[in-house]
Amino acid sequence: MKLVKLIANLGYGSRKDVTALFRSGRITDGAGDVLYTDDVVPLDTIRVDDEPLDPPAGLVLMMNKPLGITCSRKDPGRVVYDLLPPRYSVRSPAMSSVGRLDRDTTGLLLFTDDGALLHRIISPKTQVTKVYEATLAQDLRGDEGELFASGTMMLESEKEPLAPAELEVLGPRHARLSVTEGRYHQVRRMFAATGNNVETLRRVSVGGLVLGDLPLGEWRPLDASEVALIFAA
Ligand code: URA
Repeated sequence: MKLVKLIANLGYGSRKDVTALFRSGRITDGAGDVLYTDDVVPLDTIRVDDEPLDPPAGLVLMMNKPLGITCSRKDPGRVVYDLLPPRYSVRSPAMSSVGRLDRDTTGLLLFTDDGALLHRIISPKTQVTKVYEATLAQDLRGDEGELFASGTMMLESEKEPLAPAELEVLGPRHARLSVTEGRYHQVRRMFAATGNNVETLRRVSVGGLVLGDLPLGEWRPLDASEVALIFAA
């Protein structure tokens, strides 16, 4: 792909805008030499206004989603995309969150501009395990693990039973739940069906990729080995 189109696709402006950036000498190589539109150079050496060019298509990010923001661009109020550089919202292909977390759920949220990868992660066929830690309003009854693991649990207004999920009790009102599906408000609805309420909910891993110590509200790109980890558990 020609440099102008490639840089325009990364959200730096229209092709006309990017051509103007070249003409005004604002696009350089790592040594500071001005680049021209028909130069052929490795992308990771390109600088725009002395800053490295954003990563090319195929970008995958992880975020520690904070409380109080939502995952749909259409939602009113703050959305997760507001935490990413504004250019990331106008890239082509676009960056999308990989599934969604509720406004009141924190933790590991992935983003990518790779549609095939996104579908592979969220497809129920792939069975990527998502692990959540929940604190609950009331003590666990003791039979939740068996119910969640049964493969027959029905959520209200759904036609198909839930796939088996694994519950690990961490305390009287504290549990870790591993699920392979991504149904609407799934974890909250599972506990609600047992007469309980989720007070806090945090996603701690997706497949073999763990949130780790990424601070709330922060994000970072993933390398290929980290992306592979998603499918490695
Ligand atoms: N289950 C929920 O109830 N909420 C989330 O955000 C994710 C899973």
